[in-house]
Amino acid sequence: MSQKNLVFLLGGDFSPEQWQDYPEILEKDITLMKQAGCNVMTLGMFAWSVLEKTEGNYDFSFLDEAIERLYAGGISVILGTPSAAMPYWLAKKYPEAARVDENMMREACVPRAFFCPSSPVYRQKVRAINEQLAKRYGNHPAVILWHISNEYQGIGCYCENCQNKFREWLKKKYNNDLNLLNRTLWNNFWSGDFSSWDEIDIPKPKSRTYGTGLYLEWKRFTTELYVDFMCAEAEPIRRFSPNIPITTNFHGCFFDLDYHKFKDYVDIISWDIYPRWHSNNVIDEAVKAGFTYDMCRSFLHKPFYIMENTPNVANFETPNTTKRPNMNILSSVQAVGHGADMIGYFQWRQSRGGYEKTHGAIVDHSGRDDTRIFKEICNLGKLLAENKEICGTSQKAEVAIIYDWETRWTLDNIVAFGGKNKKYLDTCLKHYAYFRRNSIDVDIIGQDSDISKYKIVIAPMLYLIKHSTIERFCEYTKNGGTLVATYITGIVDENDMCYLGGFPADELKDVFGIWAEETDSLKSGITVKVCADEEEFEAVDYCEYIHSVTADIIATFESDYFKGMPAALRNSYGKGTAYYIGFRDNGKYLNHFYDKITHEFEHYSPADGVFSSKRFSDDAEYLLLQNFNAENTTVKIPPDYCAPDGRPMPETFDIPGYGVKILKNRK
Ligand code: GAL
Repeated sequence: MSQKNLVFLLGGDFSPEQWQDYPEILEKDITLMKQAGCNVMTLGMFAWSVLEKTEGNYDFSFLDEAIERLYAGGISVILGTPSAAMPYWLAKKYPEAARVDENMMREACVPRAFFCPSSPVYRQKVRAINEQLAKRYGNHPAVILWHISNEYQGIGCYCENCQNKFREWLKKKYNNDLNLLNRTLWNNFWSGDFSSWDEIDIPKPKSRTYGTGLYLEWKRFTTELYVDFMCAEAEPIRRFSPNIPITTNFHGCFFDLDYHKFKDYVDIISWDIYPRWHSNNVIDEAVKAGFTYDMCRSFLHKPFYIMENTPNVANFETPNTTKRPNMNILSSVQAVGHGADMIGYFQWRQSRGGYEKTHGAIVDHSGRDDTRIFKEICNLGKLLAENKEICGTSQKAEVAIIYDWETRWTLDNIVAFGGKNKKYLDTCLKHYAYFRRNSIDVDIIGQDSDISKYKIVIAPMLYLIKHSTIERFCEYTKNGGTLVATYITGIVDENDMCYLGGFPADELKDVFGIWAEETDSLKSGITVKVCADEEEFEAVDYCEYIHSVTADIIATFESDYFKGMPAALRNSYGKGTAYYIGFRDNGKYLNHFYDKITHEFEHYSPADGVFSSKRFSDDAEYLLLQNFNAENTTVKIPPDYCAPDGRPMPETFDIPGYGVKILKNRK
């Protein structure tokens, strides 16, 4: 990391290109940034039409000046590459740079994000400007990080060039053997065998014409194409600016790109988070945010950056709820608790015109430093500076939840299992909610990730299980791990082909000690009774018809034709234990279930609605308490914690509504 003397970064997207006719505003910005405790600004992602006014006609004067001013003010720079928004001269001269949609229509000159990721001319133009930027600023002392592009979209492009690239990708993967592809993807279904590579077109989502396996291949190809695009645009930067790390800003659990495939090509993980805090339930939003923070940290198992969040209203939401008092501090402390070392905002200053002029900003159109939001960011700046010793510290999680993009893509694309009711991400979140609400730190990992170090691994609805994952699940459980799976697990393999012999797949039947034969999807409003430990629960959406082979039954269905059949089971396998939950519930059973299986964990839960997370340095442990309740809440802390400056803390104290408390425990 080039973050020299570890301090939390606090900053925002800064667009000096929009204010070139307002020198007094640019001058004032630096003063305001320092006043707010901001120490970094992100620049340049949308400045291409200013940096290259016409083809090859570069003008870096505004950026030179902005970077120099920031540097003189002691503010570092995260420098963006501008590929997310192509200038009109480029779009008009090279229409092939724009994406073609699934109806084979070229996007009409779209200024943002919808470029064709394989377009040779677009790649060449992006490289050219990136090379200029890298040569000019690649060793500038103000620049601490490269921000490659902006939120790659990944919805794919259907142009001839992308079609050809997809065919080439398939040829390589299937060793030029079309028969192998036809057999592997079960293409003779509905007469779908290909007799030449040229017949393969990019499949449309949810289309009946092509095999679902081909769709999965296309989603994989698309992610790889964007990774390739990112690496190509980063190449001149790596060459001319080898000492400055790179990132690209992810957007959470975004459907179209499998971020696991990007993680090895960036140095720092960063992402843009836009929770709907007060327009939804605050605690549910905190659970969702926690899930994505944990995923970001787990990509590289090191601290990550929040590149963007909004200081106030997000203009694209309905309703446009303002960010309520204290939420900037509460949400930032939550992020830090999960491993964030930077809190970045979109945006520093509200633009005067354009689509985002109504979006929240640290400095709004009033330009004042006494607004509610500006003052809150000043307080955040102070808090981050006071707690800088937490920056760079790590987290330890003993529980992992698998969230798998390939499962999400295939489940989304397939007919059956209740159509739209599958809610894969939502199900992962429901499992996660138990741990977050009980302040048990969790890693969110992919199905290829190493699971050997965890006490509990949870794989909700892992519909697609690769053969290699089955092996690792067997190994993990045999060696003493606790594995939890649910309905709709292990139905298909990596080619989206069903496992034969009943589900869950192959050896997983031995691991769970069961075989399952049917998955019933229930009409909305219909429930099936479940009984466990003499308590009653309700199944909604899904019930499976399961047979125990060696497993103990820990919950039983009590109605419909499932009556008397197992609803949840526990099986000993090697030194470990595997649990299978054969129904979806409204949350009550998951609480009961996880209460039981986590009881041997020593963990600390502050109070209902108060979350806590821990970060660890070599000689201290930090406890970050976050009160997501609107009211004052009393918490009792574990022994040996004090305030970060060493002052003793009472065992019990109140945290105000939406307030925070940071504590320390010297080892
Ligand atoms: C993000 C984007 C920003 C800005 C923001 C508005 O997705 O990266 O550039 O548009 O949304 O909320």
